[in-house]
Amino acid sequence: MQTNTELLPHFWYVATPSHTLARGAMLPVTLLGQQVLLLRDKAGAVSALKDFCPHRGIPLRHGKFDGCEVECCYHGWRFDMAGTCTSIPSLLEDDTMDVRKIKTGHFPCVEQDGLIWVYPATLSEPASPPPAMPVAMPRGFTHVTSVAMPCHVDHAVIGLMDPAHGPFVHRSWWWRTAKSIHAKSKQFAPRPFGFAMVSHKPSSNSRAYKILGGDRTTEIQFQLPGLRSEHITIGNHHVLLLTALTPIDETNTVLHQFAYTSIPLVRALFPILKIFGRAFIKQDLDIVVKQQEGLRTHHAPLMLIADADTQALWYYRLKKEALAAAAEARIFENPLKERTLRWRS
Ligand code: FES
Ligand SMILES: [Fe+2]
Repeated sequence: MQTNTELLPHFWYVATPSHTLARGAMLPVTLLGQQVLLLRDKAGAVSALKDFCPHRGIPLRHGKFDGCEVECCYHGWRFDMAGTCTSIPSLLEDDTMDVRKIKTGHFPCVEQDGLIWVYPATLSEPASPPPAMPVAMPRGFTHVTSVAMPCHVDHAVIGLMDPAHGPFVHRSWWWRTAKSIHAKSKQFAPRPFGFAMVSHKPSSNSRAYKILGGDRTTEIQFQLPGLRSEHITIGNHHVLLLTALTPIDETNTVLHQFAYTSIPLVRALFPILKIFGRAFIKQDLDIVVKQQEGLRTHHAPLMLIADADTQALWYYRLKKEALAAAAEARIFENPLKERTLRWRS
């Protein structure tokens, strides 16, 4: 099928895990092709400036940040946390120029649940805050890993929601074996900006679930632009896994993986569980690298088959609606309906 490879700037993206930005530090990131300079001031507040000096264009990341203002490395112009110029050293004392009219610009930036979110659209403001998680997490997410994937975000998203690759890509003694493949039937329902595989008992063939014990339900959600969450309840307790895909540009994407649990024992095991999580993500990364070998020379449309690839088809429908809604300046209307999908995996 022919697909639209446009990126979606009118959404919040995970720019970086909170712990990667210390007080008084700056961190340059690229989001949807734009250079962004993340800052955290001395009081702990975060902001996201355009990483560009409006004087003569040098990226501000090459300058200095004193925990209050960034000083450009070229001529020392200074900018506050909102990107407003506060001083031009070359001006004479009696100069009447209003330096505060000079701005480098900034992006909406919010810190929430241990994540720093940025809204990279330049011509619009976000209509709502970054997505809320299904449970309150006073201590925020634990960061599992962030990996650079050398592919367009669409391929990363489709890989994330692809149910048929598990027994092949993630084959291992501790997760899936070749013999574990069987027919599945799952109920799906629309959710804000996406859909969910609705609450069910986790598959009996996944050993990691068996270890958890207790009465369990799982809901796996996908929402635009590239967020997948897996919410497991065990009695009154919660486990929440979040995968956030953030496009760097048209051909590179960062996958951020986070985990949260209210179960102290599982939290204590996080350092070990992270090793398994990273091994799992490495398998996805390796397959993406191999896929790019093929896609570099192959330009014909790819095949998406029902029902194993139906979630990928839904992603493209959601994306089409998001682009249309943004172009027509109207509210996004979820085009998906409740459905059962069946496949073997
Ligand atoms: S280029 Fe930044 S101060 Fe001149
Ligand atoms: Fe995978």
